[in-house]
Amino acid sequence: MGDETLTVTDNRTGRRYEVPIRDGAIAATDLQKITSDGPGSGLLSYDPAFLNTASCRSAITFIDGERSILRYRGYPVEELAERSSFLEVAYLLIHGELPDPTQHRQWVDAITHHTLLHENIKKLIDTFHHDAHPMGILVGTVGALSTFYPDAKDIFNEESRRLQILRLIAKMPTLAAFAARHAVGMPYAYPDNDLSYAGNFLNMMWKATELKYEPSPVLERALDVLLILHADHEQNCSTNVMRAVGSSHADPFSATAAAAAALYGPLHGGANEQVLRMLKEIGSVSKIPEYVKRVRSGELRLMGFGHRVYKNYDPRAQIIKKVADDVLAVTGRSPLLDIALELERVALADDYFIKHRLYPNVDFYSGIIYAAIGFPVEMFPVLFAIGRTPGWLAQWQEGLLDPEQKIARPRQVYTGPAERHLPGVRAEAISR
Ligand code: ACO
Repeated sequence: MGDETLTVTDNRTGRRYEVPIRDGAIAATDLQKITSDGPGSGLLSYDPAFLNTASCRSAITFIDGERSILRYRGYPVEELAERSSFLEVAYLLIHGELPDPTQHRQWVDAITHHTLLHENIKKLIDTFHHDAHPMGILVGTVGALSTFYPDAKDIFNEESRRLQILRLIAKMPTLAAFAARHAVGMPYAYPDNDLSYAGNFLNMMWKATELKYEPSPVLERALDVLLILHADHEQNCSTNVMRAVGSSHADPFSATAAAAAALYGPLHGGANEQVLRMLKEIGSVSKIPEYVKRVRSGELRLMGFGHRVYKNYDPRAQIIKKVADDVLAVTGRSPLLDIALELERVALADDYFIKHRLYPNVDFYSGIIYAAIGFPVEMFPVLFAIGRTPGWLAQWQEGLLDPEQKIARPRQVYTGPAERHLPGVRAEAISR
């Protein structure tokens, strides 16, 4: 492996270069040695969306899109979704190993005891307009938390990092639920330490006048599984933002606000909302062939289908389909699920989808489950953000501790005008 190289001939100069290959990659900085016109003319690689550029080395998440594989720290996501809890997965992502029983108890206990928010954050949420999008409130308030915890700036202190990680995982659901209740004018429901992470979130969302909120075990487990499935997905858009902001040594609350802002975009965290709108637009199983015809003609895209990485079934979609059955058995069958199942059947047998290797992705069924549990569509990206928080934090910490990482600062290919001057200014008169 150590002897692997790439030989490149620069046809501009006729010179040959040998570039080392490490772990299946060449270092883009090695291309700088390939010059045509002296120092400063080194070759750049151009990759605007990082389509084929590794921005880091990471030991957290492995994806093989051809073979439908998603693993966290080596464990298949299917096994984790079946046998573990979201907080165990969060521990695994951050620490690299699953917790033993003592570590697990301490971890759950610590997160449970950090769920409260400073009362001033509550006042801050009160100041948002009544129809403020909960994702906008989440982005604003998680960033504001950095001003409540100035110790979070001490990013190279292990104990400080540990504390901020606990605070962030614990407080995201409280911020999210308070944002949702603000929209409907309900009084905020405080965390209940007797409940699980997911159960407490349901409590903060829907507790009304009852003394004790009792979550449905099926809905509680379904939400926990959905959080597991969203916990990390290697270098996606928002994780890349988390690492980039972290690389400037900003505190983790500010970096999480930036990552959540990236997730807010409809191309990233908003697709499941689009699936729900699409299923409602189709309206009935009988209208599916006509809709698929429009997709085939290029008029529309089938939302919840296709993925940049998965060119086979998204492994998360398989698990979610099963969770949807469990949830709808409790909440009542949704006509949207019937449309989704038939749409999937028709699409998977259709030439267009086979040729383009389009399969259902994680968003195809998650919106149906969220809607069945009772979440308004505006909350869908917020739920995604809660699930993704441990992944963002694991990636942030890994980047900080990686000696090869520096402040993120891409190069550019300049395409603007060459030097020119304001009227009346002679070039030679300018002293440099
Ligand atoms: N419906 C119909 N055709 C599609 C779809 C779709 N959902 N997705 C891709 N295609 C077609 C494109 O039209 C294109 O066809 P062509 O080569 O004949 O022009 C081809 O497949 C490749 O499409 P690209 O856009 O180049 O693929 P890319 O990898 O860039 O896009 C993406 C991936 C954005 C997910 C795309 O499949 C899509 O728009 N899907 C619908 C939105 C969606 O479900 N997003 C959620 C993704 S999962 C997540 O973010 C958590």
